[in-house]
Amino acid sequence: MEDWKEPLLNAARDQRAFAYVPYSHFRVGAALLAKSGVIYRGSNVENASFGATNCAERSAFFAAVSAGERAFTAIAIAGDTKEFLPPCGICRQVMLEFCDPDTFLVLLTNQSGEVRTLTLAELLPYSFGKGDLACASAT
Ligand code: THU
Repeated sequence: MEDWKEPLLNAARDQRAFAYVPYSHFRVGAALLAKSGVIYRGSNVENASFGATNCAERSAFFAAVSAGERAFTAIAIAGDTKEFLPPCGICRQVMLEFCDPDTFLVLLTNQSGEVRTLTLAELLPYSFGKGDLACASAT
């Protein structure tokens, strides 16, 4: 395993402790490695208006982008679950905004510490991205 993978996975695991989950009690931690080498962390942050909830992955992306980062290598996602916790559709779309789907890696880890690695292209095939906007005909 590359030397950045284990620290990234551990950062995601640790980040579960900061999840704000009074409604679901479902803790998620994410750690995003920018190409600068900095790791940005995110937890899920819930809201009494449930739709205002932010997933851990988006929290990590928004922290990184707000810090000026625009290029990313990988994200690790840790749930307190037996199975791997794959990112939701909205988070996959946010990843696509900033990441090359063929090279950006999504590392999933479960309660047992097992790891599964996928590319963003595997998670979000036939996607709609900024390139598709360019195809619009001028009115
Ligand atoms: N959640 C995440 O943080 N990431 C995911 O990939 C899936 C779901 C959060 C949102 C909500 O706080 C809780 O998990 C249950 O959906």
